[in-house]
Amino acid sequence: MLNIGDIIKLNGNSNLYALIYEENSNSFGAYNIFEASASPFSEKHHVEIQIPELDNTLSVDIRSKLYLNSGDGTLFSTISPENMEKILRLDILAKVEGYYEKFHADKNKNFDPEATPVSYGGRVYDEKEMRSLVDSSLDFWLTAGRYNKQFEKEYAEFLGVRYALLTNSGSSANLLAFSALTSPKLKDRQIKPGDEVITVAAGFPTTVTPIVQNGAVPVFIDVELGTYNIIVDRIEEAITPKTKAIMVAHTMGNPFELDKVMEIAAKYNLWVVEDNCDALGSKFNGKLTGTHGHIGTSSFYPPHHMTMGEGGAVYTNNALLKSIIESFRDWGRDCWCPSGCDNTCNKRFGWELGSLPYGYDHKYTYSHIGYNLRVTEMQAAIGVEQLKKVPTFTQARKENFRRLYEGLKDLGEHFILPRATENSDPSWFGFMLTVQDGAKFTKNEIVEYLEANRIQTRMLFAGNLTRQPAFVGVNYRISGDLKNTDKIMHDTFLVGVYPGLTHEKIDYVISKIRSFVLSKI
Ligand SMILES: Cc1ncc(COP(=O)(O)O)c(C=O)c1O
Repeated sequence: MLNIGDIIKLNGNSNLYALIYEENSNSFGAYNIFEASASPFSEKHHVEIQIPELDNTLSVDIRSKLYLNSGDGTLFSTISPENMEKILRLDILAKVEGYYEKFHADKNKNFDPEATPVSYGGRVYDEKEMRSLVDSSLDFWLTAGRYNKQFEKEYAEFLGVRYALLTNSGSSANLLAFSALTSPKLKDRQIKPGDEVITVAAGFPTTVTPIVQNGAVPVFIDVELGTYNIIVDRIEEAITPKTKAIMVAHTMGNPFELDKVMEIAAKYNLWVVEDNCDALGSKFNGKLTGTHGHIGTSSFYPPHHMTMGEGGAVYTNNALLKSIIESFRDWGRDCWCPSGCDNTCNKRFGWELGSLPYGYDHKYTYSHIGYNLRVTEMQAAIGVEQLKKVPTFTQARKENFRRLYEGLKDLGEHFILPRATENSDPSWFGFMLTVQDGAKFTKNEIVEYLEANRIQTRMLFAGNLTRQPAFVGVNYRISGDLKNTDKIMHDTFLVGVYPGLTHEKIDYVISKIRSFVLSKI
């Protein structure tokens, strides 16, 4: 009787072996085994094994399969369950790769202008993300584990920061970033209810809502048309003794003027949180955005610069902020042991904190009113592969933006065209167009026309946050006016530049925008 994991010596040749991987009454599925030196080794398809009966290393090739009957050979040895697990895992992953090739690879390949939708953003992936996802599911660790650790390390390296922490969304990343600044551990720099935070109203709600959720007061400043970023010259006049932080996003991937913002922050001792959710890969003065301020945040929701489905990250160079962010993320606890680990501080039962008795388990000691905003292994596993693609994604975004710009740049009479901030190199999220005052058409007319032609459009998120129903009754302050923010709410829309857009699709978008404008003049 043969079992899975048995090595049999095949009849008729003294040097041929096979490894049983599947039993079916009297027939068996088996992998061919080679001498390792005879087969070109590939991590994707081979596992090297050592068995006590032989001196040489053998290699099991999961692509080379046989079907045997029990009389085709004799039992020779058995491999370890660990090696068998590795081999069966590679076989499953190879099947996943085949599945990708058959059912996913050709999606979006052919463009039919009469039928194919042109989305503004979406997932761009290949078999590697699918393999990684299934690999993590086979571990069945589920919560943060080895992929989480790998991603956090590699993401910090990519950004050039000391610490990066994964969380389950960009909104959670913003919530963690801001909540961290309310920690009593920050002493006189702690943000308290009623303190003010400089921000903008033209953007995504969850850049601002953490300020409100923590009882602080958002102070809105207008943005510039064209760059769509905070008007830095208006920041100082908005500052009062209550001002504690500046929290703004790099709009649509276009960096705000980080040099000036950091200078003002240093002058008034303010925290700077960069919402980098739409700007991964953008640079200001040659340095990645998200890494200039005290804390940066990312989103990995599908239209963003890389994806995990749902996911986000918070990053900083400050060790104290890192430990506070981690605490808020992980239930508010004081202990920093990763899932499944105990006593990494070597004094789990040796602390005395709050009015808890000496020696109360550190694992169950809480220093913040926290959350659980952790990510699963499956998300992190996808992220590990997506991160490798960020440099090519960035190139594609820039190239698509450039192509759109070239195709539309003579339409300045009708639209305010997007403009990169000085000293910046944006990895664009979208291509923004603002219909000029006095144009012969409205934003709604062109948006409806493009959508009817299957070209997806988006607004600059909330337009003017202060006009959203959610902000009725919220304690905020407007410094100066929000004239441009209102103009954006009325007249701005965007089309996509994401890496899934081919030149053909971009040219189609250009031609449709041009033909619409021509039909109106
Ligand atoms: C600037 C900005 N910040 C934060 C977020 C929130 O990210 P998430 O959707 O991952 O919660 C978004 C979302 O798209 C965003 O555009």
